[in-house]
Amino acid sequence: MAKKPLRSQRSYGKLDRDGFIHRSWIKGTGLPDHVLDGRPIIGICNTWSELVTCQFHLRDLAEHVKRGVWEAGGVPIEFPAMSLPETQMRPTAMLFRNLLAMEVEESIRANPIDGVVLLGGCDKTTPGQLMGAASVDLPTMVVSSGPMLNGKWQGQDIGSGTDVWRFSEMVRAGEMSLKDFLSAESAMSRSHGTCNTMGTASTMASLIEALGMSLPMNAALPGVDARRKTMSHLTGNRIVELVKQDVRVSQILTRQAFENAIVMHAAIGGSTNAVVHLLALAGRVGVELTLEDFDRIGRESPLLVNLMPSGRFLMEDFCYAGGCPAVMKELGDRFRRDALTVSGMTQGEIADAAEVWNRDVIGSVDQPIGPSSGVWVLSGNLCPDGAILKPSAATRELLTHRGRAVVFEDIEDYHARIDDPNLEVDETSILVLKGCGPKGYPGMPEVGNMALPPKLLQKGVRDMVRISDARMSGTAYGTVILHVSPEAEAGGPLALVRNGDEIEFDGPNRTLNLLVSEAELTNRRRAWEAVRQPSPFTRGWYKLYIDTVMQADQGADLSFLVGNSSSEVTRESH
Ligand code: FES
Repeated sequence: MAKKPLRSQRSYGKLDRDGFIHRSWIKGTGLPDHVLDGRPIIGICNTWSELVTCQFHLRDLAEHVKRGVWEAGGVPIEFPAMSLPETQMRPTAMLFRNLLAMEVEESIRANPIDGVVLLGGCDKTTPGQLMGAASVDLPTMVVSSGPMLNGKWQGQDIGSGTDVWRFSEMVRAGEMSLKDFLSAESAMSRSHGTCNTMGTASTMASLIEALGMSLPMNAALPGVDARRKTMSHLTGNRIVELVKQDVRVSQILTRQAFENAIVMHAAIGGSTNAVVHLLALAGRVGVELTLEDFDRIGRESPLLVNLMPSGRFLMEDFCYAGGCPAVMKELGDRFRRDALTVSGMTQGEIADAAEVWNRDVIGSVDQPIGPSSGVWVLSGNLCPDGAILKPSAATRELLTHRGRAVVFEDIEDYHARIDDPNLEVDETSILVLKGCGPKGYPGMPEVGNMALPPKLLQKGVRDMVRISDARMSGTAYGTVILHVSPEAEAGGPLALVRNGDEIEFDGPNRTLNLLVSEAELTNRRRAWEAVRQPSPFTRGWYKLYIDTVMQADQGADLSFLVGNSSSEVTRESH
């Protein structure tokens, strides 16, 4: 059978005016004639920027990918994609995940590229880049930034995000001075790389391994470890091979791969944000995946990794303990061993080659770090399309709770009143925050782990049940019910909750109910509809986003981006 011509040759292989144009303007970058002779062209999609430390070293890693590509007989061509610095963007980086996905998708499809290496790391870059690449479906691999080194402060290890939340509550409770608090800043983030806890960045990098989209150890090797450069080089080698074998994203991202990602997510005590990202990614490749799958499949795995925020250690420790391959090994047949990966090995072969080097950091199925956790998916009249909670980060005694609602209509209302000593709240209350879903904020920010009222912190209260249509940082903890769907802005029952209403949360039975009669809710809905205001966002990206974003239970992708348009482009530019 004749070998399929490379996609890039439709631009560089033509001996006519169009071929002249494509070749001439790429030769202007310094490439000689002979490298355009039909070698695979490998796009390196780089989210490098100086906006955040998470991706600051990606230029360096790109150079190592290029070495590997050249060595394997390909031609590397680097191009930029937006950076999405989680800790810098307003109103929230999540508002732009789908914009990055669109940018990546169209950049890949429009250019003469045969295969892609995605370089990203900060929370939304990994899902955004992979969603976009999946909708084109060329051979694709991921190299993540890798985590920062452990934070070191006053003789203790401190973790990105997790210790910010803890220290901030200590200051609010009067247990820590402002001077000490500020002195921890530079000790927490002391190298290039992503957050060093099992936050969203580390979770997504781990799930990239579980999905089979990177070489082994993608998640755990620190950003500054020389072995991450080696892994980048080897990725450059491997992507050329994938192009030659025409192994596409859709052959790796199967239902089996997503099931592995959910099992891994439970084993690592992963970020709740991974739920929306995996749902959105599944939508791009046509894999049926539901919110309920996370609860059902996640139960297969106990908590095996002892990392903040669910545990004690940090990503650097996870690396030295064996990383994701060692977790896969411990999971045994719970992990779908015959799933394919971009490495050329099956997941079972990767697991067989791994070892656990530190049992304090990675437990076993017989002696896990914690019971089966994953995420709990709730249903009930307060969340008709679901809500989630991360039990490993919650307080056990609060996992069944009935209390009266203290309601904040939006984030401004919350900020205005939470510190008020006259706020009517006690430790049995349930904090309810509205207006923070995909359409409402807009962009579904990480505000669901609301800080507690100072008057309760000063009494020693450290956790309360909190409910919202928001997300929370993967580094955060607490009995926090998130992603309530439909969100308040979309007319979900959350919009109808009022101060003093009783709410019943039964975690073991996965229910969340507002104990208000149907007749009363119908009256409230009429009143709510009568005072609704039109959206203040009438143009640009915000408007497109608000008009088309789907709810959290569907991954918060834009409705018109679901699916795949292939890599085919039939028309020329001249
Ligand atoms: Fe970038 Fe945490 S802020 S990974």
